[in-house]
Amino acid sequence: MKRINYLFISMLVSLFACTDKPLVVSEDEVLSLPSQPYDYQNLQLPVGTSANFSIFSNFDLVNGEVLFSSNKLDITQWGATLGRVLFYDKKLSLNNTVSCGSCHHQDKGFADGLQFSTGFEGRVTTRNSMAIVNPILQNNLFWDSRSKTIHDLSLQPVQNHIEMGMENLDRLVEKIEKTDYYKPLFEKAFGTDVVTPENISKALSQFVGSITSNRSKFDKGLTNNFNEFTELEKLGKEIFNGKGQCASCHGGNSFSALDGPNDPYGGGGGTFSIAANDLRGATNIGLDLVYKDNGLGNGKFKIPVLRNVELTGPYMHDGRFKSLEDVVNHYSEGIKPHKHLDVKFTDGKGNAKPLNLSTIEKKALVAFLKTLTDKEMASNPKWSNPFKK
Ligand code: HEC
Ligand code: HEC
Repeated sequence: MKRINYLFISMLVSLFACTDKPLVVSEDEVLSLPSQPYDYQNLQLPVGTSANFSIFSNFDLVNGEVLFSSNKLDITQWGATLGRVLFYDKKLSLNNTVSCGSCHHQDKGFADGLQFSTGFEGRVTTRNSMAIVNPILQNNLFWDSRSKTIHDLSLQPVQNHIEMGMENLDRLVEKIEKTDYYKPLFEKAFGTDVVTPENISKALSQFVGSITSNRSKFDKGLTNNFNEFTELEKLGKEIFNGKGQCASCHGGNSFSALDGPNDPYGGGGGTFSIAANDLRGATNIGLDLVYKDNGLGNGKFKIPVLRNVELTGPYMHDGRFKSLEDVVNHYSEGIKPHKHLDVKFTDGKGNAKPLNLSTIEKKALVAFLKTLTDKEMASNPKWSNPFKK
């Protein structure tokens, strides 16, 4: 009898979960999902980049040995749909107060607009919440590049965020098993309603991995020779690629650490050299003489993706700069001669070599950075919060 009851309830729930009809989750919240899942499978990636590139990430160098990892990320429509629900569900924190979406807001390029964020039990993060954009192209995640790939993330997404208070994944499994609206979603995503830490992680990383951007003014420019760019934006682009050396770090059409077999900041994915592997797509840009937080070591931090940067302030690992103007001022005249400052910013004699940009050059750089905004990504319902008040 109990079993029949259960069957009946789960059929009922599954009926709800595949209609547009909202499902009541709590007194003040409903869960709305589309009857047909959104398209997450066809990734919209920038010209000249390809998700296949991250297949490189399946080679991992450990003590000089090449390991083959089988964690390739396969995105399915229902897997990512389940991931979307998990991403925005406060049940993923120990006391139901925080979801991934609490610190990663879609309209802010998945950053949160704060210097530091408040997590579980009022614990404040020691680093600035990061934008999420095209993570599938990256081989270095988090400010200290501690995760190499989105595949890594697929193993420990919740635990990597101690602010959620969920150190024990078994507890999470228990909670999710008791939540009715998950059964049909797990069934659709994985063909079974049995909840496992692996499947929670897989679904989350499918959703996170699907967050892609190639619809900015810059992307359009790639197709029409930038003929819609203003003179200021064109000048900014020139400085970004030339005098400013910005592109030598925030490189390619992904605007992230250059990471191929011959790239100087190889994140450990595309290159087979251990020296480059150690760089992990991170470097020191002379923010301080002495760092409170040393990141990957020696004040090296991940070279962040600049796509959507207009939406993702405040900036840097500690959110110290409020505006893009502040960031540009740093590169122009604020670089400190830290012992481990990136050689690009030194004169070879231990002195910092700031860019000394003119007022118009600074304005141009900021104008160019704003062409990297993808408004469609920031508002597309497929990445939005399905829980509504
Ligand atoms: C309390 C705020 C908070 C919550 C909740 C949170 N994050 Fe984060 N997220 C951060 C911060 C802060 C960082 C940078 C942490 C660091 O570098 O040590 C970050 C970094 C990331 C990154 C790395 C991005 C990059 O480009 O390197 C990803 C991906 C991510 N979070 C996904 C998630 C997922 C998935 C969840 C839910 C399981 C989640 N976050 C929950 C604050 C949060
Ligand atoms: C030597 C490599 C390197 C060069 C050259 C470089 N950057 Fe950066 N950039 C970084 C690193 C590393 C960080 C993160 C530093 C930190 O948080 O401690 C960063 C951070 C940023 C940020 C903040 C992004 C965020 O999400 O907080 C912006 C904006 C930025 N850089 C723009 C530029 C511009 C514009 C130029 C050219 C004038 C430039 N960068 C040149 C490595 C570089």
